[in-house]
Amino acid sequence: MRLHITHHPLVAQKLTLLRDERTPSPVFRSLVSELVTLLAYEATRGIRVEPVDVTTPVGPAKGVEISEPRPLVVPILRAGLGMLDGMTRLLPTAEVGFLGMVRDETTLQPTTYATRLPEDLSDRQCFVLDPMLATGGSLAAAMQYLFDRGAVDITAICLIGAPEGLGAVEKAMEGRDVTVVLGALDERLNEHGYIVPGLGDAGDRLYGVV
Ligand code: PRP
Ligand code: URA
Repeated sequence: MRLHITHHPLVAQKLTLLRDERTPSPVFRSLVSELVTLLAYEATRGIRVEPVDVTTPVGPAKGVEISEPRPLVVPILRAGLGMLDGMTRLLPTAEVGFLGMVRDETTLQPTTYATRLPEDLSDRQCFVLDPMLATGGSLAAAMQYLFDRGAVDITAICLIGAPEGLGAVEKAMEGRDVTVVLGALDERLNEHGYIVPGLGDAGDRLYGVV
């Protein structure tokens, strides 16, 4: 598993505002969107492109276009949905699939309650969006789901991760082509499976308590 932790002052500054318990939902949502676009720049470094010819007003030039099949972006509902807009701004031609997952607050085990994905992901580059990588259970299950459908490589973009979750994903995805791009690697999980210091419950802060 490749790990990339983005060290950029704008990412750090936006994450600081995101963590602040006083930040209201509308601002939180804008910050999530801006952060994803910054992280996606790094996460898409290995995106497949084809050479293409283009004519400028001055003459012919060599360029590139995104290869087929187009990349698939998969937000993990609910909180990952808050990252979709920022990602598609950078990658407007990507297709989008959805995975709905929720973790049990006691056992911390994820269950999948919704899927809307292409049946065949052969030869697809996939980008999974989820702001929080805590125990890693949700991300590992999402990645397994995509590999089972034929995905070739998966890049996860997470805003904040915990060492425990990274270790779990690395173990579960051993031998697979997996990259995790993080905005920050925090200290640890607390006894409730929340990232410390983290930002609290990302879904609740985006959309309110359910
Ligand atoms: C949160 C978060 C991740 C998951 C991370 O979702 O968005 O999907 O928890 O935890 P894990 O690494 O321990 O699996 P949650 O289950 O709270 O659902 P929500 O997005 O609907 O709020
Ligand atoms: N899910 C969240 O939203 N926050 C955490 O800290 C852990 C899991």
